[in-house]
Amino acid sequence: MQMTEVTVAQGKADQATGEVLVLGHFEDDASLKGDTATVDKALGGALRALLSCKEFEGKNQQITVLHTQGKIPAKRVLLVGLGKKQDARKDTVRQALGCVAKRVRQLGADSFVTPLLGQGIGGVSPLELAQAMVEGALLGLYQFTEYRTEQNGNGKRVSTMTLIEPRKDRLAKLAEGARRGRAGAEAAAFVRDLCNHPSNVMTPSRIAAEATAIGKERSVKVKILEQKDVEQLGMGAFLGVARGSHEPPKFIILEYRGGGRSGGSGKADKPIVLVGKTITFDTGGISLKPAENMEQMKADMTGGAEVLATVRAAARLQLPLHVIGILPATENMPGGRAIKPGDILKTLSGKTVEVQNTDAEGRLILADGLAYACRLKPGVVVDIATLTGACVVALGQFAIGMFGNQEGLKNKIRDAGLRAGERVWEMPLWEEYFEQLKSDVADMRNIGGRGGGMITAALFLSKFVGDGVPWVHLDIASTDWSERERAYIPKGPTGIGTRLLLQFLIDQAKLSH
Ligand code: BES
Ligand code: MN
Ligand code: ZN
Repeated sequence: MQMTEVTVAQGKADQATGEVLVLGHFEDDASLKGDTATVDKALGGALRALLSCKEFEGKNQQITVLHTQGKIPAKRVLLVGLGKKQDARKDTVRQALGCVAKRVRQLGADSFVTPLLGQGIGGVSPLELAQAMVEGALLGLYQFTEYRTEQNGNGKRVSTMTLIEPRKDRLAKLAEGARRGRAGAEAAAFVRDLCNHPSNVMTPSRIAAEATAIGKERSVKVKILEQKDVEQLGMGAFLGVARGSHEPPKFIILEYRGGGRSGGSGKADKPIVLVGKTITFDTGGISLKPAENMEQMKADMTGGAEVLATVRAAARLQLPLHVIGILPATENMPGGRAIKPGDILKTLSGKTVEVQNTDAEGRLILADGLAYACRLKPGVVVDIATLTGACVVALGQFAIGMFGNQEGLKNKIRDAGLRAGERVWEMPLWEEYFEQLKSDVADMRNIGGRGGGMITAALFLSKFVGDGVPWVHLDIASTDWSERERAYIPKGPTGIGTRLLLQFLIDQAKLSH
């Protein structure tokens, strides 16, 4: 799907031309403010009238559209509520624009013009507001129609969004915000696409082909390790999971070298390594999953897709960073050669694992992915994975589970998540839980019993992270798939986590806000 074009232009709302002019209003503002007040005057008090008869109150995501009848150049005014000012966050604006853009499309309008909305929200710069507006609009408009042979809906499309700003000295900041917003939206939409494709299309080989295509971009080097290569390296855990499938596994490495800054340790050029769980379909293997909702397991490669998209975005934004993405990609299938409960695998690290449940496959492929990452002398390692059903139980739809071994790094990820509107919640990584992972026959087993399933999975991963390597693990099983449509999140794959990773990189690159 072609994305909406975004432009930033100097101009005033009451003089803007176009099909739809967007204006915002906080619920608790007694009177109309700024652009909304100016336009109201030009419209002879039409907006004030809506407020005084409570037809429009400015409640969060409330929208009213009226025709301007030639009183101002824009054909229509779309008034959007931003809720109470003290409750408003950057994500309020992102969500508002998701709703606005979808309404513009419904109206059949091909474009809209908007001033910067949400000014006055605490701690959010104009650059960040512009970024959030672009993200909200572009992600709200996202649709996946690849497999529809009949046009669904009427093919309406919003081709341009124009951000207008009267002050010339602010244009550059807004343009930079729009550029980052577009990069984030483009990355998240790419992830949604990869996850929406069914597993008969989005195989490990196809993911490798997507990586190879990214290798055509400037300064990204792609290496695909084939089955024989990983056998030679000794990735027994990754290979164990791949055994049940007829699709050849691919261990994918992307390296972007955009310059000097490292991942936090201060030592020049140590890479930031991102590792993403890339199970292109998780049947559970011999420990087969129940049929209900199993189709959602086509998105068990979300982590890998997010790493892919983040590396691509870092390259497109030309961030001055050294970033490496790692995707162990395979299916998890039952089959005559599949691993069975009780099998023991020797991991790349040398540690042995008793497989008590073949459905706990994510941690197996990540064990080798993380061990490989740590061989690259990283400054930072972040892994991202649809790892546990227990994460869904604990956190529901609105928080990513976070674990880590270093406060500084955890704080940076927490902050990036907050600013991206993809919030994380920290869980404990206490050694006490390891007693649940003890095996009678190997160094550890791959499941930890009933309690604390998200924690024991993370603790398992920690055993494959080298000493002294700053590491964060993100469990996105809670957020990768949405049960219903929201402002800028569609039903189905969400791509949540992508913009968090990208924001983290932007912060590491020390670009201004
Ligand atoms: N991919 C699943 C986790 C998952 C579940 C993601 C629901 C998204 C939604 C993972 O591989 C898995 O099957 N985990 C098992 C682990 C268990 C066997 C210890 C689980 O959570 O049931
Ligand atoms: Mn599984
Ligand atoms: Zn899985």
